[in-house]
Amino acid sequence: MTSVDPRGRTDVFAPDRQAVASALLDSARTSSYDPVEEVDWETPLDTAYHGASPEWSTLYGTSYWDEMTPEQQRELTRHEAASVASTGIWFEMILQQMVLRDFYAKDPTDPAFQWALTEIADECRHSIMFARGAAKLGAPAYRPRRVVVELGRGFKTLAFGEAAYAAILVAEEVLDVMQRDWMRDERVVPFVRTINNIHVVEESRHMKFARQETKERLAGAGWARKQFNALVVAIAAYAIVTSMWNEDIYANAGLDAERARREAKANEHHKAMLRSSCAGLMEFLHSAGLLTRAATVFYKRANLI
Ligand SMILES: [Fe+2]
Ligand SMILES: [Fe+2]
Repeated sequence: MTSVDPRGRTDVFAPDRQAVASALLDSARTSSYDPVEEVDWETPLDTAYHGASPEWSTLYGTSYWDEMTPEQQRELTRHEAASVASTGIWFEMILQQMVLRDFYAKDPTDPAFQWALTEIADECRHSIMFARGAAKLGAPAYRPRRVVVELGRGFKTLAFGEAAYAAILVAEEVLDVMQRDWMRDERVVPFVRTINNIHVVEESRHMKFARQETKERLAGAGWARKQFNALVVAIAAYAIVTSMWNEDIYANAGLDAERARREAKANEHHKAMLRSSCAGLMEFLHSAGLLTRAATVFYKRANLI
């Protein structure tokens, strides 16, 4: 089957795309979660637990980390988990709008259309779940820097095609490896493990769709458009990753904020964790032709490569 989208692009891969979307819809029917019911919201926060795997802390491996008491370390990872979840909310709001715009007035009988709305519904539940989780961790509202908030406002209004779907993929992949570690870690507070488990399961479908859409949209893209969108995706990735750990977490965890920021910035262990978690993503971007020279500069600056 061949269909034409409102921008006039003939979609020659439609059968493949429909098969992927149908499989995703089937999977969603059998394994989707309602966080309101699944997550233990009732049990009060037990501060004997971490909020995230300590190895993922921005200070793990620094001399400051070694000087901190175990209580301080746990307090910090709880703020770090809340900060990552809050950045997740910010990006999920962006991606919901991009997907909704992308499917505006398209064929509702297409499984991809129905999948897109399913994904938006997932993200809506996720954001509420992250919001409740961050509040339960005792964290304030962590939002990206003003300039990033405004860049995001432009991006969610304008991005389309491979730029939108590759950026979605980057955000989802960066979170994925981290959350897989946290959900299995017995040092992490149980309700956060449940949240991460739900997110990992549901996001694996989103990532499949994002890869598929990125490849499809790129099939019709010329050299200049590819170069431009590769750069846009890399800048989005830089904005997302540098927003994950809000700088206020250190003061809120009762630490010397200036020293913590300095040591976190120079923390080679944390950079190595990020790089290794993004190996598969970089391979995909490379195979899709999105790892251009200009894009690589931003991935390097974000410690993703
Ligand atoms: Fe999500
Ligand atoms: Fe997602």
